[in-house]
Amino acid sequence: MRIAVAGTGYVGLITGICLAEMGHHVVCTDVREEKIQLLKTGRSPIFEPGLEPMLKHNMSNGRLDFTTNPRTAYKNAEIIFIAVGTPENEDGTANLDYIHAAAYTIGVSIENDVIVCTKSTVPVGTNEKIKEIIQSVKPPPLQAIVVSNPEFLREGTGIIDFFNGDRIVIGTESREAASIMEKMYLPLKIPIMKTDTRSAEMIKYASNAFLATKISFINEIAAICEKVGANIEEVAYGIGKDKRIGPHFLQTGIGYGGSCFPKDTKALVQIAGNVKHKFELLESVIKVNYRQQALAVLKAKEILGSLKDKRVALLGLAFKPDTDDVREAASLTIAKALKDEGAMVIAYDPAAIANARKVLGDTIEYTMDIQLAIENTDAAIIATEWDQIKHFPLEIYAEKMKSPIIIDGRNCYSLQDLSSHPITYISIGRPSIKPYKVKS
Ligand code: UDX
Repeated sequence: MRIAVAGTGYVGLITGICLAEMGHHVVCTDVREEKIQLLKTGRSPIFEPGLEPMLKHNMSNGRLDFTTNPRTAYKNAEIIFIAVGTPENEDGTANLDYIHAAAYTIGVSIENDVIVCTKSTVPVGTNEKIKEIIQSVKPPPLQAIVVSNPEFLREGTGIIDFFNGDRIVIGTESREAASIMEKMYLPLKIPIMKTDTRSAEMIKYASNAFLATKISFINEIAAICEKVGANIEEVAYGIGKDKRIGPHFLQTGIGYGGSCFPKDTKALVQIAGNVKHKFELLESVIKVNYRQQALAVLKAKEILGSLKDKRVALLGLAFKPDTDDVREAASLTIAKALKDEGAMVIAYDPAAIANARKVLGDTIEYTMDIQLAIENTDAAIIATEWDQIKHFPLEIYAEKMKSPIIIDGRNCYSLQDLSSHPITYISIGRPSIKPYKVKS
């Protein structure tokens, strides 16, 4: 099929490249000239395992191209995916300016009947608005059918998720469009659910809200575990064995971040508010997450007393491993709080330093060498469970730090491993290990 993709952000790029890998002819378009130029040289503007080789492969076999000219991308397309950003407005609502602009450009550019398929996460009713905009500007004899086709890609495993997702949701009132979309996805052998447009739009928000709820729930249970002397790892394992609960998304930590959960949970609270429903449960989920992001610094203060002039290593800046993305990362909250407390911060991350620097500037030091990060520090806070951090030998903390105190916001180490090292180890929802009294 001939496919166009509007927007070469995370979702658009992975969708475009993977569709080309499936054998379709794909043209991706974006307003940002420098991004398109970079992509045209076969380089990916985002850090995503496996993406660049797939990009190069499909460009060289002629199935994938990039352009800043939307007319070139859209004019012969049978399906156009909208994958532009829906950033957060100040009040938490989703900003739909890019969506509306994309719909307008599609309307004025198409030269054939087309299916317009929305991948971006959009509030219920947006696809109807997209249809309205296209209808108002498209040449009258042409047909543009709108489909909601939300994505469930995780950063770092986007390609795996594209080819092995749990389900594909196709939301449209057009049977013909639904069956064309179904045919396109059929080779993936992923269960396909066909539904109405509004339900498809809602499925995306409800999925992300439910996953965020699981995380805040387990973080609440972890807080209680600490107080009653239970171990969250055991508790999460025990409840996850119940098939009705399941083992996934029960990893406690310093809260969820990234480009989706924080934004989409707030947007769903707003969507509910618009129809006069107070989504109290989700409001609490969001509140718990703020509290969780502040936890590591509170724990550092508990053990060190004042943080003024203390040297603190911040291990991990990305919101999760295998990405360079720092959007809504707990590390940013932690770095700012440490600076507010008067601490000196030296941050380690194998991929996200450039992005963190854009937010934190030179208020903190950065290094890509963990050993350098922890050298001569009073405490180390683990904010991301990168493999490089999880497998970093404990004896080096003991040897290199001024006072070996680890505050592990991601429970990277087993308590058993810690017991043979002279390290004060504070994690989340598990008993602390304090081999000696810390001098203030
Ligand atoms: C998420 C959804 O998983 C995906 O389906 C959607 O399309 C986009 O949003 P992503 O943001 O890439 O994907 O990351 P994910 O792996 O889901 O993790 C999100 C955050 O939750 C991370 O900060 C992670 O550290 C945290 N998390 C996840 C936990 O704290 N505990 C868990 O058990 C799982």
